[in-house]
Amino acid sequence: MRLGIWILDKTKAIIVAHVYGHPADMNKIMEIAKKYNLKVIEDCAEVHGATYDGKMCGTFGDIACFSFYGNKIIATGEGGMCLTNDDTLAEEMRKLKNHYFGTPRFLHEKLGYNYRMTNIQAAIGVAQVEYADKLVQARIDNAHKYNELLAPLDFFNLPACRDNVKNVYWMYGVTIKDDSKISKEDFMIRLKEKGVDTRSFFYPVSMQNSYTRVVDSELIHDAPVAKHLYEHGFYLPSGGSLTDKQIETVVKKIKEVIDEL
Ligand SMILES: Cc1ncc(COP(=O)(O)O)c(C=O)c1O
Repeated sequence: MRLGIWILDKTKAIIVAHVYGHPADMNKIMEIAKKYNLKVIEDCAEVHGATYDGKMCGTFGDIACFSFYGNKIIATGEGGMCLTNDDTLAEEMRKLKNHYFGTPRFLHEKLGYNYRMTNIQAAIGVAQVEYADKLVQARIDNAHKYNELLAPLDFFNLPACRDNVKNVYWMYGVTIKDDSKISKEDFMIRLKEKGVDTRSFFYPVSMQNSYTRVVDSELIHDAPVAKHLYEHGFYLPSGGSLTDKQIETVVKKIKEVIDEL
């Protein structure tokens, strides 16, 4: 396995995506950023409430972005927020979000966008912040229940959790073991036939057509770990309102598929 880091003269920042509820290894990332004088932008879309070394995700980098899209732990349908401790960056983001209006009002000082969130969506989000701990805990409880019921089957690799993090299990992801008799796609289809819908892991960045067009081809490397995860991984029903009984049903259906192999 080769882990590659490409940092060029023009590299300005590292964008870290914390994935599926588990924080990225921030000590290492901050060390690299310091060594090469790079800014750090944390993508916290999937880690609302997660911590690394006891510190909240979103408080390590220069900017943190949160998505509140409908499938997130705190959800407003669409929209999100950015955090920063830097007043200049905050002002820049406020302007970028609102057409980069300057003075006088309708003079656009630079190219800006309409990334405004509506007040109604914000109100829906603020209300959820009041019980965010409960929303997060529900995902963690789901994951513990799945772990308990799936471990004895010894069929999937279950989600890992480092000692120094609070994993919020935004999604409960599993990978089919390498020696499995069935592909993940076929497993997902058979499970769906039994009434349990699942979702594939994301397509890796290294396999995205849009990036192969814009990035120097020699910088596109194999990313074998991401490719392997994509080819074997999918996530099980993970919503915060799942009951233990529903999780038991999902696992029962999984057992049926395995028994029929
Ligand atoms: C890690 C990550 N980043 C970014 C996004 C995009 O968020 P939005 O659709 O709110 O722009 C998502 C959404 O699924 C995500 O999971």
